[in-house]
Amino acid sequence: MAKLDVVLGLQWGDEGKGKIVDVLAGRYPAVARFQGGPNAGHSLLFEGRHFTARSLPSGIFRKGCINLIGGGVVLDPIEFREECGQAMELGADARERLVISRKATLILPTHRLLDAANEWAAAKGKKIGSTLRGIGPAYTDKIARVSLRAGDIFRSDFVEMWKALKAVHVARIKAIGFECDPDAADAEFLEAVAFLRGFRMVNGAYFVNDLLSSGKTMLAEGAQGSMLDVDHGSYPFVTSSSTCIGGVCTGLGVAPGRIGRVFGVFKAYCTRVGEGPFPTELFDETGAAIRAAGHEFGAVTGRPRRTGWLDLVALKYAVMVNGVTDLVMMKADCLDSFETIKVCTAYKLGDTVVSEVPAETDAPVEPVYTEFKGWHCHLQGVTDPASLPREFNDYVAFLEKEIGVPIRIVSLGPDRDTIIEYQ
Ligand code: IMO
Ligand code: MG
Repeated sequence: MAKLDVVLGLQWGDEGKGKIVDVLAGRYPAVARFQGGPNAGHSLLFEGRHFTARSLPSGIFRKGCINLIGGGVVLDPIEFREECGQAMELGADARERLVISRKATLILPTHRLLDAANEWAAAKGKKIGSTLRGIGPAYTDKIARVSLRAGDIFRSDFVEMWKALKAVHVARIKAIGFECDPDAADAEFLEAVAFLRGFRMVNGAYFVNDLLSSGKTMLAEGAQGSMLDVDHGSYPFVTSSSTCIGGVCTGLGVAPGRIGRVFGVFKAYCTRVGEGPFPTELFDETGAAIRAAGHEFGAVTGRPRRTGWLDLVALKYAVMVNGVTDLVMMKADCLDSFETIKVCTAYKLGDTVVSEVPAETDAPVEPVYTEFKGWHCHLQGVTDPASLPREFNDYVAFLEKEIGVPIRIVSLGPDRDTIIEYQ
């Protein structure tokens, strides 16, 4: 029985999961998204070309790789059609390389309007900073047991089902008092649904388990990050899905025992986009310098990302919750020019020093830092471990010892080929 390996983000999203899945996808016959939707923005760079994967799994540019959109995903037909067009321009025909679980939840145009209405109506301090892709309202309907699913588009009464749910949404938007034209995207939605009918739809859990039983390994691609998980993240400033390891089992229909390696991806610093706590956030020129060096602007929304030092308390928590077996460190090259590099190793909560992420999101924690001497040399593009400076190796060794899990992959540049692997 082959195993299902997993790639997860360990911070607040934007860790570089897309690149790692693209790199690893060459070794797996199949790649699957198990949760989230087009709130994800997974940047891929290969052969001088750039693509941002939102709903498509990041194995889409690997010939011969089967890509699955799993049942735990929320799928927006309009965004999906657009993304398939962009992938096609770069040579990937999604119709050949993609299968979709019939149980994936559909995002309707009115889910996006509801997302906007909810954010508009939220009081100051209560706004989530959502990507406004309709993610929260679509998952709300799923849990309320009223969603439309991908398989429903083949039913003869699909249009009636859609109109009935849309009417409920419109009433809710009106009650909120949010001004919009609820019919504006209807024609486009129906065209996009017709496009979606051209795809191979499967009974997701059987599809995945049959592949594994036939000896084919598979890679599950997480979206967002552990600190945005609806259960384990900084609630309520989270997304509406299970971004952690449990979401793999529920989103794909696989048993925990079938999971093999768990690759946990983190950046050598932290970023967060949207609202919510961020203990190591920097508001000074160092934060601005990290943003500039790391090009930390949203791949989906273009928003400048909040930046700060690496938070080991949060990282160790994410490693624990997910059972990470292999760490993947991204973008340390963006810290090349710093005299001193800081790592948060504990929090101060009033007069006490704590090493746990508090259950209460608004606990006023302050970071306690350990400082490292910077390496002061240009690391971008380095692929030979022998040319890494001592200061850098010391930093990596410290992190491994603190976390207790090996850093198996180091990425020092956006390109698919810029990768260092340790055995
Ligand atoms: P990838 O997969 C970073 C954030 C939003 C907001 C919160 C809720 O590229 O790492 P939502 O639209 O889900 O209701 O927004 O979650 N967020 C992300 N931040 N990367 C992402 O995805 C994100 N997806 C959602 O900014 O704070
Ligand atoms: Mg992103």
